[in-house]
Amino acid sequence: MKGIILAAGAGSRLYPASSAISKILLPVYDKPMIYYPLCTLMLANIRDIQIITTERDQRNFVEVLGDGSCFGLNISYAVQEVPKGIVDAFMIAEDFIRGDKCCLTLGDNIFHGMNFIHMLHRAASRETGATVFGYLVRDPSRFGVVEFDESGKVLSLEEKPEHPKSDYAVTGLYFYDSSVCDYARVVRPSPRGELEITDLNKMYLARGQLNVEILGRGFAWLDTGTFDSLLQASNFVQSMELNTGVKIACLEEVAYNNGFLTADEIMNNIKNKKSNGYYDYVTNVISRPRVPLESKLRSR
Ligand code: G1P
Repeated sequence: MKGIILAAGAGSRLYPASSAISKILLPVYDKPMIYYPLCTLMLANIRDIQIITTERDQRNFVEVLGDGSCFGLNISYAVQEVPKGIVDAFMIAEDFIRGDKCCLTLGDNIFHGMNFIHMLHRAASRETGATVFGYLVRDPSRFGVVEFDESGKVLSLEEKPEHPKSDYAVTGLYFYDSSVCDYARVVRPSPRGELEITDLNKMYLARGQLNVEILGRGFAWLDTGTFDSLLQASNFVQSMELNTGVKIACLEEVAYNNGFLTADEIMNNIKNKKSNGYYDYVTNVISRPRVPLESKLRSR
C-alpha cells in the first residue's frame, strides 16, 4: 500500500506566520506539523510515501525529511502547480501509486487516540472499497459530512452542506483500493472549482463500497487552520506529552517499534543532533526493548 500526504496548500489563512514557509512545516509544539500525518501513515505500516507540495516549499520538506531513510521510509516528492482540489493528488501521484492500494492524508490533519492503530490496520487490510473516518463536530457545515445508520452503513455524503444530515465530519484521512485513479479521473470540478474528495467517495458509496470508521469520544482530531487552532493543537500535544511522558508522533519511536529501523541505525542517524527534550526521548526509547506493532494489535 502507498501513502500520499497532500501538503500543497497556500496556508494563506495563517499569513504572516506561514508567508515564507509552508504551514505544514510550522511547529506543532515540538515538531513540524508534517510529522503528524507521516506518523499516521507509519502507524498504518505504510513505508512508500509521496509528499505533494508547492514548488516553492519542496526543498524545505526535503531538508526536514530527506528521502525518509532516517525513519525507515521511502519518501518521494511531487509538485501540485495549481490547487485544483484533493482529488488532483491521485492524478499527480498516479505513477507512484502504480495500481496499488493507497492511503491519502491531508498534511494539516492531526489524529491521536485509542485504537487508532486497529482502525488503520482494518482500513489498510480491505482489498476492495474505500474507508473514511467520521468524527463528531460542533460545526459540520465546514466539512464533508457523513450520515450513517446504526449498523455503520453509510447513507449519504455531502460536502460542506448548509443543512447537515449528521454531526459527523469526514476527516482528512482516506483509504482506497487499486481503482482509485480510475475513479479520480472522472471527477469533475465542483461549483467552488475544486475536484472534491467527497465526489470521489460518493462513487464508492454508489457501488456499496464505502466504509466508515468512527473516531469515538475521547479521540482527538485536531484542526490547525487558524492561529487559535494551531496554538490549541500545540497546547494539546504539550499537555499529553507532559502528562504521560510519551511523545505523540515521534517518528524515530514508531520506526523502532515497527521494526523499520534498529536501535543502532537510529542512534547513528541522530548522533549529530544536539541533546534536547526530543532527542533525549528518542535515545531513551531505543535503549528499551521495542514494543512491536503486532503485540499492540494483539493486545486489543
Ligand atoms: C477538505 C474536504 C472535506 C473534509 C476536510 C477535512 O475540506 O473537502 O470533505 O471534511 O478536508 O479536513 P477543505 O480543507 O478543502 O475545506
